[in-house]
Parts: sequence; C-alpha cells; structure tokens
Amino acid sequence: MLLAVGSAKGAPGATTTARVLAAVWPQDVVLVDADPAGGDLALLARRPDDGALDPDRGLLSLAADARRGLGERPLEDHLQQVEGGLEVICGVSTPDQMAGIGPVLPQVAGAFARWPGRDVLVDVGRVSPTSPTLPLVQAADVLVLVARPRIESFAHVRERVRWLAQLRETNLRTPEVAVVLVADSRDRTSAGDLARLLAHDGLPGTVLGQLADDTRAADVLGGRVERPVARSLLVRSARQLVDPLRALSQSGRGVRTTA
Ligand SMILES: Nc1ncnc2c1ncn2[C@@H]1O[C@H](COP(=O)(O)OP(=O)(O)OP(=O)(O)O)[C@@H](O)[C@H]1O
Ligand SMILES: [Mg+2]
Repeated sequence: MLLAVGSAKGAPGATTTARVLAAVWPQDVVLVDADPAGGDLALLARRPDDGALDPDRGLLSLAADARRGLGERPLEDHLQQVEGGLEVICGVSTPDQMAGIGPVLPQVAGAFARWPGRDVLVDVGRVSPTSPTLPLVQAADVLVLVARPRIESFAHVRERVRWLAQLRETNLRTPEVAVVLVADSRDRTSAGDLARLLAHDGLPGTVLGQLADDTRAADVLGGRVERPVARSLLVRSARQLVDPLRALSQSGRGVRTTA
C-alpha cells in the first residue's frame, strides 16, 4: 500500500503526521521523505548508532537506479534505519534535485506502490497541480491531506479535492483523498463542518478523523526534544487513524485506468 501525506497550503503538520503514522503503523513500513522543498529527515534523524544519515542514499540513489531501469539493485539498498528502528528513504536537499529526478519519479512511485511486503508512507509536501511530486500522489492508494480547523485551511483543502476530482474525470489515476484535521482533541465540530463543506459541493474526499494538536509530542517527532511520546495524545490519536486509512485504501473507489 502506498500512502501519500501532504498539505494543500501552509504548514499544517504533514511531515509530523507522516512520521507519527509511520511510528504507529502495524506492518512493515518505509517512510519516504519526498518534500520537493528539501527534506528534513537527513538533517534531523540519527542512525541507531547516533551517526548522521547519508543524504545521498535515498531518493537520489533510487532515482539513479531508476534511470538504468530499476531491478538491478534491491530497493532495500536505498533504505537507512533511524533511531527507534524505523526504515526511511531520505529526501532531496534542494528543489533543483527534485526537479532533476522528476522524469523518473513515475518509475520510483511504481516501485513504492509494489514494494513486496511493505507499506510505504511518503511525505509529498504541498500538493498542487504544479507539484513535482505529482507522480507519487497519483500512484498512491490514499492521499492524506492534512489540514487545520480554520476557514482558509478548509477552503484550500476543498480546492485541492476539487482539482483531484477533475483529474479523475479525465481518466487519470487519482488516489482516494482522506483529510486529517490537526485539532484540539476537545474540538468535536470541525471535522463535521469540513465534511459538510465537501459534501455540499459534491466532492469525494473523506474526512478521516482528527490528529491531536499536541505541541509537546510534535516537538519530539520533529527531533527538537527528547521525551517519551508513546502515551501522548498525538500518538494515541494517530493509532485511531490506521484502520480507517487501511480500509479506505482497499475501498478502491474511483477511476483507476491510466498509470
Ligand atoms: N499534531 C500536531 N500538534 C501540534 N503541533 C504540530 C502538530 N503537527 C505539526 N505541528 C507543528 O507544526 C509545525 C509544522 O509542522 P510540519 O513540519 O509537520 O508541517 P508541514 O505541513 O510538513 O510543513 P511544511 O509545509 O513546511 O513541510 C511544526 O512546528 C510542528 O511541530
Ligand atoms: Mg513538511
């Protein structure tokens, strides 16, 4: 299963959401840093022996293999392990590098979607019609769009869902869209408000649920603070999203004719 995690606009917490989902994912999982603006993983994460990650091993090395037609080397060669045991594919350092690997991203995306025995979670950064990571979004089973409970965030999500629905009408492969709201756990109304907004326009996105707005745990996931987070609201709320996400990925709604 390939899951893309991104945002419509702003910095609502897509990277944090991808990380926490990978941390609680119940099956073998790979976290891919594909933010076109330049990834953070290679800068922030540490290996289990506390060494730094190799920024050239990851998307860049995988793209180099893809130019030769993937298959010579196993995908596992591009993985690195980070403290805690999670396996990751490091991202690019600059937007230019992402533009450079653009032509082979469809092959890379296909390899992620078919990775034997693994689910793959990709942080695709901001999602728009001009986003260089569109091949990854299009190959995904589900696109998780992260939003905040604010009018402008809702409006941007609605426009992104509308655009994806239009793509689908042109027979292009599109993922199921799952909106995740980063919101206070006492907020019982925003998710319903957004669902009604999408339904009012006849748009196909599912408001999957809420991820706790939990600054302390988000700081830990961002590598800024060290503290146990297993029992945090953020981690607990992420666990609640796993089964609905897997169910949505298997629901196979929509047109999936062209790769
Ligand atoms: N669930 C959360 N609770 C509280 N704060 C959060 C949460 N998720 C993210 N944040 C905070 O919001 C800020 C942006 O988070 P993050 O980098 O994950 O967002 P992003 O959408 O990936 O941004 P960008 O578009 O810059 O890549 C960070 O300070 C992060 O700690
Ligand atoms: Mg990010």
